[in-house]
Amino acid sequence: MSNVITIAGGGSGYTPGILLTILNFREEFPVSEIRLYDIDHERNADMGIIMTYLLNKNHENVKLIVTENPQEAFTGCDFVFSQIRVGGMKMREKDEKIPMKYGLVGQETCGVGGFAYGMRSMKGFLEMVGFIEKYAPNCWILNYTNPETIIAESVRRQFPKIKIINACDMTIGIEELIEKSFGYDRRNFICQYYGLNHFGWYREIYDVSRQKDILPEIITKIKKQGFDVSGMEPSWAHTYRVMADMVREFFPKYLPNNYLQYYLFQDRALEEENPNYTRANEVMDGRLRKIKDTVNKIKENRDLDTIDYASESHGLYIVEMAISILHNKNDRFMIIVPNHGAIPNLRSDAVVEIPCYVNARGVEPISLCYNIPDLHKGLMEAQVASEKLLVDAFFENSYQKALEAFALNQTVPNATVAKKVLNDFIEANGNYWVELK
Ligand code: G6P
Ligand code: MN
Repeated sequence: MSNVITIAGGGSGYTPGILLTILNFREEFPVSEIRLYDIDHERNADMGIIMTYLLNKNHENVKLIVTENPQEAFTGCDFVFSQIRVGGMKMREKDEKIPMKYGLVGQETCGVGGFAYGMRSMKGFLEMVGFIEKYAPNCWILNYTNPETIIAESVRRQFPKIKIINACDMTIGIEELIEKSFGYDRRNFICQYYGLNHFGWYREIYDVSRQKDILPEIITKIKKQGFDVSGMEPSWAHTYRVMADMVREFFPKYLPNNYLQYYLFQDRALEEENPNYTRANEVMDGRLRKIKDTVNKIKENRDLDTIDYASESHGLYIVEMAISILHNKNDRFMIIVPNHGAIPNLRSDAVVEIPCYVNARGVEPISLCYNIPDLHKGLMEAQVASEKLLVDAFFENSYQKALEAFALNQTVPNATVAKKVLNDFIEANGNYWVELK
């Protein structure tokens, strides 16, 4: 059976990489039609041009639809891959820069920047899920729209029955980095990891080929030599340097998700960040400019063979998840799911990121069967409560709840600054946010 895929947020710079991954798996994951859905006409049209170029170059016979119409995008589709970014890079820039005005960490998914993005994202994402429920009630939504815990919590409240899998590539990114830095094969790993999205820890990495837990030796290597950050963009290289320092100098027992540095080492993050030029600017000047340049070359009718547009393949885990559903493979992934006892000593209504099997039924979470340490539990409980308050604020149009969410955020030192930064974000976001009364 051939599949119809809708890429929501089709104009994103990641779309070409996803296409290449889909094509690499054509045997197990045959695709007859790809639909690019975006509300940004120009970016979606640009991406349509690049996708047509890539399909022709690879001699692929896949039907391509480029649309801003949700009915056309979703009717009869089998999978929605969601990477929408409500407000685009321009608003990401504000999420990163506004907190810095108040001396707070400015990051797209963490701290108050993540909360601002969360408020926008819930509004756009839930609207889209409404369309999907209407036009393609049986399709699978494979979601990687951020901030993922907040999205997962809001979807669970409004669409408890919808077929959605929320997953993030960061743990795979970390495992690939371990592979690259120290010469392991991550396909041999069985990982024990727990946390919230962008907020978790590895407790064990069992290597099947060695028949033992190799996390202690990985930690020893990280302490000695750090990660191999060669070839990375400077901001990502910095991230992994700080991550290595976290292990080396402070918390050597568990391997943390790199994003925890925005909560535990705000000093380091602020030291590095340039308030006038953040990651959003880097992405706009890099990945997005490259796409625009390529589109212009194609429009000028240059000989297509002379256009050298290379995109790294992207979203491997998304395609592998789709395959695991279709072929009932029970492959194991880190997925964002309601806790319901999987982490026994954490509140059961938290949305956590833990290993799960994916099969024809969807997601089957794996219970940890042990209590997590107080340091992790304490950090997570505060984060869960603040995220829940933010989701409450969204559904109840409550300024008070939003203020409580911001005040409880662990990057915010006092309620005075919480209120100031919240008010600033309300103004900057306008109709991207629901009204707060
Ligand atoms: C990782 C995270 C994603 C995040 C991305 C940002 O992959 O898991 O959630 O969106 O990094 O990357 P960028 O290149 O846009 O800064
Ligand atoms: Mn992520």
